[in-house]
Amino acid sequence: MMICIRIVLGLFFIAKCSAQITFMLQNVTAEVGSDAVIPCIYETVGLEGMIPTIRWYAQQESSRPRLYVFVQGDEGSTFKGKGITRNLTIGMDGSLIIPQVTLADNDEFSKLVCEVDFASGGQAEGPLTFGVYSFPTTEPVTTSDLTEFESSEEKVIVGSCESGSGYPEPVITFYKGDEKVNEGEANDFLNVFNSGIIKTSETDGTTSVKKTLSIPLSKADDNMQFYCVVTTTMGSESKMQNATMPLFRVKYPTDEVTVTSDSNMIEIGDTIMLTCEGNGYPEPSITSFNEGTSSTISVTVTKEDNNRVIECTATNPTSVPVTGSYTINVNYLDTPMITGSEIVKLGAAFELSCASSGNPQVSSIMWKKNGQDYSQSNPINVASAAFSDQGLYQCVATNGDKTATQEIEVTVNGLSVNNEEKIFESIDSGNTAEMVCVAEANPAPSFVWARVGSEEEVTEAILTQNGMTYTSTLTVGPLDKTFSNVKYTCTVSADGETVEKSFVLPEIETDKPEKEILDKSGSPTAGIIIGILVALLVVAIIIAIFISYVYIGLLFTRDS
Ligand SMILES: *[C@@H]1O[C@H](CO)[C@@H](O)[C@H](O)[C@H]1NC(C)=O
Ligand SMILES: *[C@@H]1O[C@H](CO)[C@@H](O)[C@H](O)[C@H]1NC(C)=O
Ligand SMILES: *[C@@H]1O[C@H](CO)[C@@H](O)[C@H](O)[C@H]1NC(C)=O
Repeated sequence: MMICIRIVLGLFFIAKCSAQITFMLQNVTAEVGSDAVIPCIYETVGLEGMIPTIRWYAQQESSRPRLYVFVQGDEGSTFKGKGITRNLTIGMDGSLIIPQVTLADNDEFSKLVCEVDFASGGQAEGPLTFGVYSFPTTEPVTTSDLTEFESSEEKVIVGSCESGSGYPEPVITFYKGDEKVNEGEANDFLNVFNSGIIKTSETDGTTSVKKTLSIPLSKADDNMQFYCVVTTTMGSESKMQNATMPLFRVKYPTDEVTVTSDSNMIEIGDTIMLTCEGNGYPEPSITSFNEGTSSTISVTVTKEDNNRVIECTATNPTSVPVTGSYTINVNYLDTPMITGSEIVKLGAAFELSCASSGNPQVSSIMWKKNGQDYSQSNPINVASAAFSDQGLYQCVATNGDKTATQEIEVTVNGLSVNNEEKIFESIDSGNTAEMVCVAEANPAPSFVWARVGSEEEVTEAILTQNGMTYTSTLTVGPLDKTFSNVKYTCTVSADGETVEKSFVLPEIETDKPEKEILDKSGSPTAGIIIGILVALLVVAIIIAIFISYVYIGLLFTRDS
């Protein structure tokens, strides 16, 4: 309610409300036996400092008895309504208090009115609803008619649920698992004669409800958990009770047979337990499971069992025989097979190829050589074999979490002679000339030296070996004029090949006084001089130390 003065000033519109009362009444619910406190909540504008008279009324069909009159701080003006027999009190703030509420209070006090009166300041009233509830205190009781039913397209009563008694009336809803059961239309055959609901009123005003669960029955209902949910609600207050319905079976033919294994990751040699199960009620019997009739068999698997299909046939009284199967999946990885030559000719092309099979499929094949990663691809192709291609090749096959390896030792055979022709010599008569014949070969080569024009065998060559590099060094001399322009040959043979190298000595001058080294590497004269100086210095130090020892020795001898 508003009392306003409105002034219009040019374009401005000013509303000055002298007084305003706004209700914010809340509906109230209370549990049986409790004291209900019903506040009269309102806000005012423009009535500061004024104390109102609050009046409570009960709105009934044809009358509106006044329940209470309240003026804050004024006991003389606060009193209970005349002719009201119900024990009522009033709160310090004007709230109406109904002590120890009963369900009977719902008849008299379900609609209440609060009036706020500021006399000349204005007056307003607002309605609210009040309710007393009594939620069921006992759990729902569920019963079943039978434990076994035939399938049926018509509704069948399978059980019932009875709520505890409460007010307002409890509502029963059936659930199958988490899904509400569709209880059908109200004009269903069953509902015409009997709604399926029986209500029993108690003397205290509460009601208990018993409801039957009647549904068509199919395979999908067999052995399923149904629930009875009882909900009792008043305003924002609510109580939900959830009880399980007894389990029941529904007869239906077997239409699915499954064979399961206790293990999915099967390795060769593992023993697995296979179990055969069929649906259908009554429980099906197994007519054949891997030639037997037991529901469980064990199989110790070999590689050949991979992809083996094991069948099981089962049937129940209302079905035809149904077969299910299990396909064994064995994890394995074969040792790889390598194709390629173990012996390769130097310079020839060669290929190493590796193959392996497994379950799951081989996912990668790669190569190692002498323990080091060599190639991510398979096969390996070498266009021209070098001695460095010789070694231990390992093929590594992978599938799933398995790896398998195979090895091949590759030997490269052949001969490669160093064409460089070096003669290390000092062409002073009396000195020697050195001829070096180098060959890489496999297997080990033979070196034969000869002096051209001489029948005499040359046997003084020295052979050294470093890996597959063989060095035969022939030293001739002391040189004199007879060696001038003499030709030597070195004949190297290995792996059926022969290569000849020749060395021609230069003119030897007998009277050449100084040594001259023809080898291009020359002589580090400065280095030699420094070397000599260092050597002299060391000698000088040794002599000095020796002398001082001798001198000290003499001193001691004298003293003793
Ligand atoms: C109180 O209840 C009445 C009747 O049920 C309803 O119309 C009204 O909106 C409710 N008021 C509040 C504040 O909830
Ligand atoms: C009314 O209720 C109050 C509070 O429960 C109680 O103290 C009082 O004795 C009751 N009066 C009557 C007359 O029942
Ligand atoms: C009833 O209880 C069961 C088991 O606790 C639960 O799965 C189901 O959701 C509940 N139903 C309701 C409507 O609360």
